Amino acid sequence: MDTILKVSNMTKDFGGLRAVDNVSFEVGKGEFVGLIGPNGCGKTTTFNCISGLLDATEGDVEIFGEDATLLRPDEIQKLGLTRTFQHTRLWREMTAIENLLIPPRNQYGTNPLHAFISHFFDNGEEERVRKAYETLEELEITHMAHNLTSELSGGQSKLVDIGRALMGEPELLLLDEPVAGVAGPLAEKIFNNLREIVSETNISIFVIEHNMDFILRRGVDRIIVMDQGKVLMQGTPDEVKDSKEVIEAYLGGAA
Ligand SMILES: Nc1ncnc2c1ncn2[C@@H]1O[C@H](COP(=O)(O)OP(=O)(O)OP(=O)(O)O)[C@@H](O)[C@H]1O
Ligand SMILES: [Mg+2]
Repeated sequence: MDTILKVSNMTKDFGGLRAVDNVSFEVGKGEFVGLIGPNGCGKTTTFNCISGLLDATEGDVEIFGEDATLLRPDEIQKLGLTRTFQHTRLWREMTAIENLLIPPRNQYGTNPLHAFISHFFDNGEEERVRKAYETLEELEITHMAHNLTSELSGGQSKLVDIGRALMGEPELLLLDEPVAGVAGPLAEKIFNNLREIVSETNISIFVIEHNMDFILRRGVDRIIVMDQGKVLMQGTPDEVKDSKEVIEAYLGGAA
């Protein structure tokens, strides 16, 4: 496995609370990996430490072979890692397509000289518009391109949010509960789309999901299970499904 994300002995404390407790795992190139665990077990905090929003208290994060432990979010984005948030952040008074066309920070347009040169030498803007429509098509939401995102359902908003993340052309995409609150059939469709993106492009996806039954049947290659800040187990969906520890953590031993 060609490792693109390596988390080693990472711990995150909030005062006296240990939210993430000495976790280690890897994500490989071309993998579709799920991160799962009960509410409050430290999934989002793990993403926050990887993506540079928080500094881990202990441990190391390596992204595409670079030490990313102390990098800022924008520096991590430049390495090729993009993330979404548990609560969708869209420009609600703009249309879906406009949301995709807002350039990510630290890319095009910040250097006036670059803007001047590109005005004459490349068709960056046209290319971006083409890519935005192509992305909506991939996610099967082209018909909503010109709807204000405030008019979209929760599930449709999630798709636009994923589309926006894809526009940054990440090599590794971290999605925090992309189907939370999304109705069953659309949630399945979103995961099918994610599976296709991993299979057909060179993007790897690491996704948080809280519903165990759901993730087991969604075509992920591997699942990392967290419980109370720790990694409880890692394995294929079949291995996780049969794990006694996992069943106990989820059902409190009732099974
Ligand atoms: N910024 C913060 N300050 C203090 N405590 C925090 C902070 N962020 C998270 N926590 C606490 O850390 C623990 C882990 O939270 P986290 O959000 O990572 O869990 P989660 O697995 O993502 O949960 P959920 O499934 O509800 O999204 C929780 O006890 C939470 O209250
Ligand atoms: Mg969370």
